[in-house]
Amino acid sequence: MTFKKDFLWGGAVAANQCEGAYNEDGKGLSTQDVAPRGIVGPITEEPTDDNMKLIGIDFYHRYKEDVKLFAEMGFKTFRTSIAWSRIFPNGDDVTPNEKGLQFYDDLFDECLKYGIEPLVTISHYETPLALAKNYDGWVNRKLIGFFENYVTTIFERYKNKVKYWLTFNEINSVLNQPYMSGGIFTDKSKLTKQDLYQAIHHELVASAMAVKIGHKIMPNAKVGCMILGVPNYPLTPNPDDVLEAMKQDRENLYFADVHVRGAYPKYMDGYFKENDIKIIMEPGDEEILKNTVDFISFSYYVSSCATADPEKLKTAEGNLFSGVPNPYLEASAWGWQIDPKGLRYMLNLLYDRYQKPLFIVENGLGAIDELVTDENGNKTVIDDYRIKYLNDHLVQVGKAIEDGVDVMGYTTWGCIDLVSASTAELRKRYGFIYVDRNDDGTGTLDRYKKKSFNWYKEVISTNGKSLV
Ligand code: BG6
Repeated sequence: MTFKKDFLWGGAVAANQCEGAYNEDGKGLSTQDVAPRGIVGPITEEPTDDNMKLIGIDFYHRYKEDVKLFAEMGFKTFRTSIAWSRIFPNGDDVTPNEKGLQFYDDLFDECLKYGIEPLVTISHYETPLALAKNYDGWVNRKLIGFFENYVTTIFERYKNKVKYWLTFNEINSVLNQPYMSGGIFTDKSKLTKQDLYQAIHHELVASAMAVKIGHKIMPNAKVGCMILGVPNYPLTPNPDDVLEAMKQDRENLYFADVHVRGAYPKYMDGYFKENDIKIIMEPGDEEILKNTVDFISFSYYVSSCATADPEKLKTAEGNLFSGVPNPYLEASAWGWQIDPKGLRYMLNLLYDRYQKPLFIVENGLGAIDELVTDENGNKTVIDDYRIKYLNDHLVQVGKAIEDGVDVMGYTTWGCIDLVSASTAELRKRYGFIYVDRNDDGTGTLDRYKKKSFNWYKEVISTNGKSLV
């Protein structure tokens, strides 16, 4: 059997993109509550009605209905995140908000009721706004202490319910999206590389500290890192392009290197020197970094090409990183290049480098769906394009497993439609479940099964044998 018996099939979401209820039950504001246009738009003074995330898909109130649908598809795991500002409304509070804690107790209980293992991201693109405004997010070393308090609280609370944890979502994205990823309030244009790499150092220390605390409080739990996975191909066989691709790969792999090997890789010395970066370390930091992760998780949507030729340097649309378009690949409606084989390549690249279990915790197609009525009078979406995308990627996961890679599981992104992270719109849909909500705020919020719902159900029940 290609996929192991206990392969963790499932789906993934993030709190800020689906929960809504942005100011209910004591939740504090997060960086997302004042970013109505995602990464492209302004940061507003106050939450504004045009911010789709304030209501999201109302998962906060409808999670029981949604988890039931996940169970019907046969999910073995469900990845979600905890909204930090539900637990510590300002981030630096001393005592947690009990109602926030209770919400996740209820959600995890609901999952466990159906035998679905919660897979929990501790920080997914939402920092308590007060930490961004008053401390400038992860640029400030004090965030490590606040994070320590937060993780200790949630580990103690959910130690009997959650076995799989991820520290920072796509931790490498802070390089390109300092506000969304690192809660850094200072405008990107004013940040120096020194600021950014110092902020990264703080996150890396905090992540390793979470691993340490996690292992102590929950000896049977597994704590992983989460990387935005983008393999870089040389645009041509020109050795300069090959070296450029290696350089760009290292910009991302450096994050995994620290998490898995427990120390800064040697090649970063050169980079820091070249860019006049001096990481300020406190005594004990190097020791803490030695708390390495149990597994590596990553998102995979696109691959990219690298060139050393400035003439050819035009960028393709991409996840949060964008590189030179690959002439052999087609793209989604949002311009993201589709490359199933790149996933096999990425899995092999990571496994060759680390020999650690890998978990694909995001992959999927953002597309415009049309709700239609089928012959039985049921509303649905005939999303053959999504089925094809997921099938083709999963076939490559199977091939990577045959190559010898240890893959723990696969969770599709946005298993239920949700608000996009980069553009904050709902018309970009990823789900097996359609949510009736439109970007103008209209819609009933009712849920409908798409064609891909039954397709995925079969993939899970046959443990991948139905893939073609
Ligand atoms: C990843 C993020 O970068 O990509 C998710 O972890 C995000 O939060 C996903 O939603 C897809 O991106 P987008 O912009 O289409 O929502």
